[in-house]
Amino acid sequence: MVWILGVAALVVVLVVMAVYDLFQTKHAIRRNFPLIGRLRYLIERIGPELRQYIVTSNDEERPFSRDQRRWVYSTAKNENSYFGFGTDNAIGAPNYLYIRQAGFPYQPKHENPDSVLPVAKVMGEWRNRQEAFRPQSIVNISAMSFGSLSGRAIESLNRGAAIAGLLHNTGEGGVSRHHLHGGDLIFQVGTGYFGARNTDGTFSMDRLIETVASAPVKAIEIKISQGAKPGLGGVLPGAKVTADIAAARGVQQGVTIKSPAFHREFSSVTGLVSFVERIAEATGLPVGIKSAVGDRSFWVELADEMSSQDRGPDFISIDGGEGGTGAAPLVFSDHVSVPFRSGFSEVFSIFAERGLQRKVVWFGAGKLGFPSDSLQALAMGVDVISVGREAMLAVGCIQAQKCESGHCPTGVATHSKWLVRGLDPADKASRVANYMIGLRYELLRLSHACGVSHPALVPAEFLELRRDAFTSVPLTDAYRYDQAWVTLDAAEVEQVDSLMAAAARSAHAA
Ligand SMILES: Cc1cc2nc3c(=O)[nH]c(=O)nc-3n(C[C@H](O)[C@H](O)[C@H](O)COP(=O)(O)O)c2cc1C
Ligand code: SF4
Repeated sequence: MVWILGVAALVVVLVVMAVYDLFQTKHAIRRNFPLIGRLRYLIERIGPELRQYIVTSNDEERPFSRDQRRWVYSTAKNENSYFGFGTDNAIGAPNYLYIRQAGFPYQPKHENPDSVLPVAKVMGEWRNRQEAFRPQSIVNISAMSFGSLSGRAIESLNRGAAIAGLLHNTGEGGVSRHHLHGGDLIFQVGTGYFGARNTDGTFSMDRLIETVASAPVKAIEIKISQGAKPGLGGVLPGAKVTADIAAARGVQQGVTIKSPAFHREFSSVTGLVSFVERIAEATGLPVGIKSAVGDRSFWVELADEMSSQDRGPDFISIDGGEGGTGAAPLVFSDHVSVPFRSGFSEVFSIFAERGLQRKVVWFGAGKLGFPSDSLQALAMGVDVISVGREAMLAVGCIQAQKCESGHCPTGVATHSKWLVRGLDPADKASRVANYMIGLRYELLRLSHACGVSHPALVPAEFLELRRDAFTSVPLTDAYRYDQAWVTLDAAEVEQVDSLMAAAARSAHAA
């Protein structure tokens, strides 16, 4: 009799817990998988002890190690993101980054509670675009389309972008209603010309102008390729073309859509530059390109065209071969296009040799959403950091790596109504904002430790890469840079310093 009562009480407790899980909004996994989802948190809690005896170390998993994920999760939840007992990294391994702090750290004159960090350059200034502007955050959300991500995930990113005051790239799937929650946009135009196409799939300037007018679009990015699947087109089966997706992309609901591997508007560097100029002229906005790095001659030709004709993209986004995607053939993700650091340094050098590096605003992406990786990219010449999957982690992604299956358990990369229901955009928006502000905060702290007010001012020679058992070399030597390419002159330093003072003062006043 007693045991029957005990079992009954247990069942009641479990039912209450299951109902609570189903209706709470903080944890998508528990909402989608009541009770069972709790096991994940239990295992996560006792994981370090278990792993001591059996499985992998904190730095082994990929794409993102356990330490990296833990840092994003705790920053996104505004929890303590400190680690105890010192580093467990192999700090003598080849290419390990050392940051040499200054003898005397920088003393900020004002509080900067949201770690406001404006970009050191003005986008569109070089070509005198009508709507040239200075992005107010050096970290922004990378291109990820509505279609590859759920509507609620896009909404969370956009609301997070609004709170943290940064730019949200739409990805190549057009501007959807989920993008309209206050965050400023970079509208990406891919080979499918979604949101800028005629019914036959060709490019339409009129549609592009309509899309730009309908949303807070601050810049336009023409996508040439992305690191995870360069040189490939895409197919979205009719079954996945919902009314919502069809509206955002300007296509017919239920009909399979193909994005070709190539642009129909141009097939040469001169054609690409003309396309950039046509769009900039029609919209007044800064226009850039995004590409992974493959054939070197493309970049040489582009830099030659830009320096001889004095025209071309206002910004260039370089994506690393290690970049993410919703779905791609393994061989393309694993082998096609070069990793970010090699690719970016190669392209930046080509432009710097022609004196163009200061005209272009450089965006970088490829696992850069961590303080040391961001700082290294900035020291290599990047002006703006784009984060993709790390922002997905902040939305709740657990790196289950099932994005292509339609069964994403956290509702981030699926359109299953049940799974998406678990994701609460209001809660996740604040996590996205916390993470992005947290990343800026760490970048600011690193800059201050290096004796300067802004990461763009951190001297490149303060960063070194381990070479062998006994030596490390300055970043500029490792990438064969001329030091002058990445050293700001006194007037530029003064300008960045005053930008920071103004940003901090306005944050203080607010
Ligand atoms: C789910 C998903 C969808 C993406 N969609 C696009 C896209 O539409 N256009 C694009 O240029 N890049 C796309 N990317 C690539 C990202 O914008 C980014 O360049 C890449 O993932 C590297 O950044 P990360 O390492 O911070 O994720 C996508 C990435 C992911 C993970
Ligand atoms: S939880 Fe898994 S399936 Fe969902 S977005 Fe993250 S990696 Fe992709």
